[in-house]
Amino acid sequence: MAQATVETREGSGFFYYTRSGGREIEQPFEKPVIVPAVGNPDPAAHAWADALFATDILAEHGLFFALLMPPEVAGEERKEALRFSETFTELYKHINANPPNRNELKSFVSKLTDKIKPFIEYKARLGEAQASGKLRSLVWNLFFDHTRHEAERWTRRLETLARGESEFDKDEVSMFWTNIMDEHARFVAHLLDPDEYELIEQAMSASRVFADLHKGGIGGVAAAAVHEPATVANSLVENPETSAVLSAAETILDFKTKAARGIEAARIKSIIDPRLADHVRREALKFVDELKRAV
Ligand SMILES: [Fe+2]
Ligand SMILES: [Fe+2]
Repeated sequence: MAQATVETREGSGFFYYTRSGGREIEQPFEKPVIVPAVGNPDPAAHAWADALFATDILAEHGLFFALLMPPEVAGEERKEALRFSETFTELYKHINANPPNRNELKSFVSKLTDKIKPFIEYKARLGEAQASGKLRSLVWNLFFDHTRHEAERWTRRLETLARGESEFDKDEVSMFWTNIMDEHARFVAHLLDPDEYELIEQAMSASRVFADLHKGGIGGVAAAAVHEPATVANSLVENPETSAVLSAAETILDFKTKAARGIEAARIKSIIDPRLADHVRREALKFVDELKRAV
């Protein structure tokens, strides 16, 4: 395996997450995640890190759509998906080289959200076309909706930062990401080789836990413990956090990290592109990170 290390920018007010927790990146598929250091409330720092995360994620959404759109059945839609992917790849590079100042935060955010808007519309339009049978791509309707919800959420987050507010609200973080984690688990279950009985079971069980946690509060935790007692108990043993949601988030992050490695090494049989495996891993990581910061 080729070696690569992240540039840590020590003392820069930022922190780099890697799969291993060290400086090495597992090439070629791992992407590190940059976040403001704990205790750094600067909205410009958060806007920069979240914009980098979001533009990279959106570039990948375009790529995943293209991979699931055979030219024979969705030629035009595929070209559009690749154009979005290029747009967000370019934006990512530009943002990486030009962190925003505090006084230009509003224009930084509005330039970005203006670019996200047409992609939200594309996801809504194609989601509908796929659901009604007008489009027969290999992109599920739920995948269009899921990725649209992510784009809408990053838009809201960036707009909040433009107002100078960097704090995370625990309920918002929990409500948004538990639903995303539930859907990821079902995506994984349906993209695994049908021979992977055990992993499919685990993924479906995780989906039900997050669907229950999504209901919120102690009722959601109780429902998860009743419906999936073994999964919830294991999660609390492996990640004995005070919050059941954080414990579940850390458990699904571990699951996805192991899955990404297993898919890369072809120990796990699936039709999951390794880039998609790392993508959902990074989203779980962001969930854990936001939950730890949330008030
Ligand atoms: Fe995503
Ligand atoms: Fe996602």
